[in-house]
Amino acid sequence: MLFSKFLEQRKSIREYKEKQVERNALIALENYTIKINEKIGPDVKLVLIEDGKEFYGKLKGKGGYAGVMIKSPHYLGIMINSENNDKVVDIGYHVEDIITKASELGLGSCWIDLNNVSDDIKDYFRAEFNGTLNFAISLGYSNENKHLEPISTSSRLAIEDIVYLDKWDNKIKIEDLEKVGLDKLFYYVRYAPSSLNRQPWRFILKKDRVILTLLKPYSKETLVDAGIMMYYFEKMINNIGFKGVWNKHIIVDSSQNDYITIGEFKI
Ligand SMILES: Cc1cc2nc3c(=O)[nH]c(=O)nc-3n(C[C@H](O)[C@H](O)[C@H](O)COP(=O)(O)O)c2cc1C
Repeated sequence: MLFSKFLEQRKSIREYKEKQVERNALIALENYTIKINEKIGPDVKLVLIEDGKEFYGKLKGKGGYAGVMIKSPHYLGIMINSENNDKVVDIGYHVEDIITKASELGLGSCWIDLNNVSDDIKDYFRAEFNGTLNFAISLGYSNENKHLEPISTSSRLAIEDIVYLDKWDNKIKIEDLEKVGLDKLFYYVRYAPSSLNRQPWRFILKKDRVILTLLKPYSKETLVDAGIMMYYFEKMINNIGFKGVWNKHIIVDSSQNDYITIGEFKI
């Protein structure tokens, strides 16, 4: 799959057709979710919610940005039973993989933040799913014509605003990225989705590696943003011949740094 084009065109879908998703597609997504659940381990639970009506009814006016819950025929429920930052980053990485699969199946999707719903709603879902619901993904056939637009319409920061050379805050020049063949990669990864479109990721390019950092203050949401970024970055850099994976090593020091470190990728 050509991840660069996919990411440039990828958009959050917030309006869906009432129509149920075809049985075969739902089964494929369910099977994929089972595989990802095995990979991600016991602290995280991902559940495909086939009947979205009740889920929506419970969260209407409460889930999502300022209580604007997204209505869709199906959802993916995301439960984290751990305060471990590592696991939260993993969620971004693996759930974005499921979203890519959903897109291949012709489905639209959108992340929904459920961290701020009231305790009684959290308790309700705890009883239902045996886990603390933190996020969900809406799933269904898009009823927007946004997907016809060639390029994502939500704004993105410039490459120079998110990539530093050698040290924090030392803005990179595009020529520096061209020299190492990473200019296109950084052009495209900016299209990764992020909570409130905050784009909290900052990269430091060193001679032999790329370091991923996140602006402070960080939160569950921005840690998920980091995981999503790691997913697309890894897929695309592998495609252009730099083989390898992220070495995740989260450093949240109490110093005056404006950022936390998430990990590094050897180039
Ligand atoms: C962790 C996370 C949480 C999000 N939560 C919501 C949400 O609650 N409601 C919503 O409408 N969009 C939500 N979004 C979607 C972002 O607002 C969206 O990705 C961003 O504005 C960029 O737009 P695009 O995805 O169309 O490129 C979330 C995205 C992420 C990554």
